[in-house]
Amino acid sequence: MRVWSCGNLAIWTDQRSFLAHLENHGELLRINHEVSSVHEIAAYIRKSSDVGGPAFLFENVKRYKGWAVAGGIYAKRARISRALATKIDGVVDRYVRGTSKPIPPRIVRDSVRNQVVWEGNQIDLTKIPIVTHSARDSGGFITAGVQVAKNPATKIRALGMHRMQVKGRDRLGLLIPATKRFGRALEAAESMDMPLAIATAIGVDPYTALASVARVPHALDKYDIAGGIKGTPISLVKCRTIDIEVPLGSEIVIEGEILPGIRETEGPFGEVEGCYSGQSNSPVVQVKRITMREDPIYLTALTGLPETDNHVMKWPSTCETAYRAATSSYSNPDVRSVNLINGWLVIAIKKRHSGEPSNVLHSVLSSISEKYCLVVDDDVNIYDPSEIEWVFRTRVQPSENVQIFPKMQGTTLDPSSPGLRLTSKLGVDGTLPIGADRLKFEKVTVPGSENISW
Ligand SMILES: Cc1cc2nc3c(=O)[nH]c(=O)nc-3n(C[C@H](O)[C@H](O)[C@H](O)COP(=O)(O)O)c2cc1C
Repeated sequence: MRVWSCGNLAIWTDQRSFLAHLENHGELLRINHEVSSVHEIAAYIRKSSDVGGPAFLFENVKRYKGWAVAGGIYAKRARISRALATKIDGVVDRYVRGTSKPIPPRIVRDSVRNQVVWEGNQIDLTKIPIVTHSARDSGGFITAGVQVAKNPATKIRALGMHRMQVKGRDRLGLLIPATKRFGRALEAAESMDMPLAIATAIGVDPYTALASVARVPHALDKYDIAGGIKGTPISLVKCRTIDIEVPLGSEIVIEGEILPGIRETEGPFGEVEGCYSGQSNSPVVQVKRITMREDPIYLTALTGLPETDNHVMKWPSTCETAYRAATSSYSNPDVRSVNLINGWLVIAIKKRHSGEPSNVLHSVLSSISEKYCLVVDDDVNIYDPSEIEWVFRTRVQPSENVQIFPKMQGTTLDPSSPGLRLTSKLGVDGTLPIGADRLKFEKVTVPGSENISW
């Protein structure tokens, strides 16, 4: 049995300290019987995601003696609130505050933690229990790796979370669209006809994991965002074969480089829209070195029908982007809270002008890939789906309050898209008109119900 260093830590130093906390609070279950990395591990995570169940630590993975696989650790919003030590309705606020107060990382001396080193002929990705998830996936994919590179044109560090398909003992396919900072970094490297050094850290502290999916301006280093969310600097160690830094205590680190000009078939893969991505010609990573802790815990994340790890991990970062967009639209609307719920971005504002909701809708929908946005007054609890339904029933007239934006940029993954990355979007103003008769719109309540418990 793996021994945790736990205690009541409110600040996670690595993935293990967070796993220990989850286990201590009944949010992580150890599975000791043998399971297969092909579909079976993903089936546990799928089922648990559907019923709001626990995360798992699979300690007996068929064909992978000595390995453990963690799964579903970010598949439930309550576990993100544990990761950030705040209530569910405080998560976005904590993420926004962290993003607006970045703290640069510090580089520390190499630790003794990653004792196992694979170089040269020892490198063999097929010896890592990389999970095959959905029915039509083209094989095993690393889905929770944090990739780190430096854009050779700007010298700014790039972090992201991008799926990687195993293509052999030392080769990985990588999905990095040109719209993302990783795509831009590769574009810059290829224009100089040079490889792009890339490290992939699997099993990192929750701050780095959540910051890696931030949709912030490319000029920002997401390690600084991770430090801002944590409240102290993230400790980094240097890779050996490439000039890249990864979080101290990462379970597994894959050092390599993206080969310039090379593209190979990648996919299909069960995607975040709940449909399969087709095949695409994607860049390839040549692996140069792999290091890991002695008893490594490989982390996998499920992607598929909402809600999976993928949706839940992006919930705070998407809301942060929307918050930034909403507050920076003309006359700086007074945004009180933001949530992403059932595919809708919901923005609660204290409305001071009748044009504000429309400004917010334009600004938010042009800053994110989500298709649906609803603006409400600040008396609505945007964490309660029944209050959202109440807004649609009582504060929205479809002929008056709905705007359709016919041609915006969206995601490549939406199969209903009429053209590459093209989408229409829907914005709804669910706010009351200025000066409305508040009594007419008053929420029906039962006195004392909030004090009842059994
Ligand atoms: C579990 C998980 C898997 C993801 N996989 C991919 C991926 O394969 N390709 C991709 O472009 N984005 C993927 N994302 C989203 C990106 O990590 C995120 O959009 C990106 O890091 C932020 O974009 P930027 O680098 O342009 O700032 C994934 C997110 C999560 C949470």
